[in-house]
Amino acid sequence: MTVTVSATLAVNEALNDKRRQGVRVLPLGFGEAGLPVHPVMRDQLTAGNGANAYGPVAGSGALREAAAGYWGRRGLPTDPDTVIAGPGSKPLLYSLLLEIGGDTAIAAPSWVSYAAQSRLVGQRPVMVPTATGQGGVPQPDLLHAAVTDAREQGRTVNAVVVTVPDNPTGTVADAETVRRVAEVARELDLIIISDEIYRDLVHVDARGDDRAVVHSPAEYAPERTVISTGLSKNLALGGWRIGVLRLPDSEIGRRLRGGLLGVASEIWSSPAAPVQQAAAYAFTEPAELRDHIDRSRRLHGTVARAVADVFTRSGATVADPRAAFYLYPDFEPVRERLSALHGVTTGPELTGLLLERYGMGVLPAAEFGESSTALRMRVATSLLYGDSEERRYAALAAGDPLALPWIRAHLDRLTEVLGSLLSEAPSAVIPAPKAVAQPVH
Ligand SMILES: Cc1ncc(COP(=O)(O)O)c(C=O)c1O
Repeated sequence: MTVTVSATLAVNEALNDKRRQGVRVLPLGFGEAGLPVHPVMRDQLTAGNGANAYGPVAGSGALREAAAGYWGRRGLPTDPDTVIAGPGSKPLLYSLLLEIGGDTAIAAPSWVSYAAQSRLVGQRPVMVPTATGQGGVPQPDLLHAAVTDAREQGRTVNAVVVTVPDNPTGTVADAETVRRVAEVARELDLIIISDEIYRDLVHVDARGDDRAVVHSPAEYAPERTVISTGLSKNLALGGWRIGVLRLPDSEIGRRLRGGLLGVASEIWSSPAAPVQQAAAYAFTEPAELRDHIDRSRRLHGTVARAVADVFTRSGATVADPRAAFYLYPDFEPVRERLSALHGVTTGPELTGLLLERYGMGVLPAAEFGESSTALRMRVATSLLYGDSEERRYAALAAGDPLALPWIRAHLDRLTEVLGSLLSEAPSAVIPAPKAVAQPVH
């Protein structure tokens, strides 16, 4: 089957075109961490460059042990034999969907790749809405109803995917929501796939306290929860391609392990050996990397909140971002004004207008599994840190990143764009650009 290339990359392409034409752009589309590689990780990767053997399919013993320690420190004691490493959490998630089979319940909105992967393996995803502020976790009652309904129609639904913390909303579902979803999953015998790749990027408040506590469904339904994570977000190593799965220490886990290793052995053989060596070091969480991640999450939080404030002042509603580098403003409160001023009535029309007229790249809710009439959009804030390594380092080191001239200029421009959007004279709608092949993050 064909899966079209996702919209994130398309927005990036379109922004690059605009840049080439000399248009001032606001890069809020692409979900990369936007930060440099820590020097110690460069050294670790260099040190591993002589490792040229394939190695075990599940990943090296050192990496699996280090990842087990990482989870252990988060209250989830882990046997290294239940860990499987792969070339990014994305292919691991795909292999899981393939191995579990049947259809999968997926949150709406949620990261674009779950639904795309589900279709790739021949499934029909069951989309279940989330509640505001509880991003990434389907509303438990709606999950129950949707799965029961699908089963009554003769469909097989075997799994549910949750994302804590969440992309696209930047929110963190609370303990009660996660507990209830785990309860529903147990009642309906669903495997829970818990994508926790943003777990270490919870924002910090002025007093230095975390702005949310992450609860994994593995706390409530350990026998059926598979956790995925990686280093693409906390250490900004997306291009290194490394991810890990924690399988449940149960009958379900053992069954999945055999199947997953079969898929892995036929597709990627083993993760890249030098990267595994570096990743094993990272998962031991030495002080210098913990410090780096602490600075990153402070920066993510400060900038995400400042951007959220600009949207709120413009008349949109925004759930308070508490982790990662995203927010998900909703222009529903100004729907009539958008329609009267611009003839805009759908999310893709709104994001198309923002791109064409103002060089502002964001993604409409429709890309994340929601209706195209929703006037919500995902805003990724991490590309505001700067377009050179020097600026990104400066952003990480800054006591007040909002005072850095390039970040300030982006925020001022955003204020100007949203002000102009909602106060301009009526004008024709400019259609959204044609999708160019791109991955969405
Ligand atoms: C929710 C979520 N899961 C997984 C990934 C991909 O991670 P990896 O680089 O480990 O494949 C992303 C990247 O955008 C993501 O946002």
